[in-house]
Amino acid sequence: MRKACKIAAAARALAGQMVRPGVTTQEIDKAVHDYILSQGAEPACLGYNGYPASACISVNNAVVHGIPGRYVLRDGDIVTVDLVAKWGGYHGDCCATFPCGSISAEAQKLIDVTKQSFFEGLAFATRGHRVSDISHAVQTYVESNGFSVVRAYVGHGIGTQMHEEPEVPNYGAPGHGPRLLPGMTICIEPMVNQGVSDVRVLKDGWTAVTADGKLSAHYENTVRITDGEPEILTVNEGF
Ligand code: MF3
Ligand code: CO
Repeated sequence: MRKACKIAAAARALAGQMVRPGVTTQEIDKAVHDYILSQGAEPACLGYNGYPASACISVNNAVVHGIPGRYVLRDGDIVTVDLVAKWGGYHGDCCATFPCGSISAEAQKLIDVTKQSFFEGLAFATRGHRVSDISHAVQTYVESNGFSVVRAYVGHGIGTQMHEEPEVPNYGAPGHGPRLLPGMTICIEPMVNQGVSDVRVLKDGWTAVTADGKLSAHYENTVRITDGEPEILTVNEGF
């Protein structure tokens, strides 16, 4: 699982380096696909419930599950790349939102708050806490910064399956849900909207966009619960 996660994290970093004006989202998807295969792993999103690509690439008002295609990235876009590598029967899942060229101060704040909200949640990913302690910490931080958390999609357990129990929402009161124990592996993945939290799915059947057309950002790591500090498994050691 550690190896699957390292491959996923390196693919995320590779994708992030490619984000610049003039690049198409399908070029980034192809690089992710080829890199994951080059490491002897599988791009687990490809074919998952019929999903047609190796990475989900969600631009600006797209929240999750954007399908890579001919869209040419423009200066000022924010670009979320979400991907899963499977190696040795185990999954590694991670994502981040990257700026394309120079972005607005508000867009940068959205990216920064989203990433920090992951770490606010991570602080509760320790033995004995309950799942919703993570949820509550994420929501509190996001809302105190004037943004909203998406409720239609949640984080999740991960292992031999991409999505396992428990669900890890980014909202809710603390003290609920399963108790965290060493050895559990979960994906903490705040999806944060600039405006309203509501989303709708486009006619392609996949791309979820914000209901009000405002921006959305996403940040995710696969995390292992330990006896002490949580271990972020999706760490990039180079590609
Ligand atoms: N990586 C996403 C997650 O965080 C799942 C991708 S959906 C898929 O759970 F269909 F593309 F696989
Ligand atoms: Co995930």
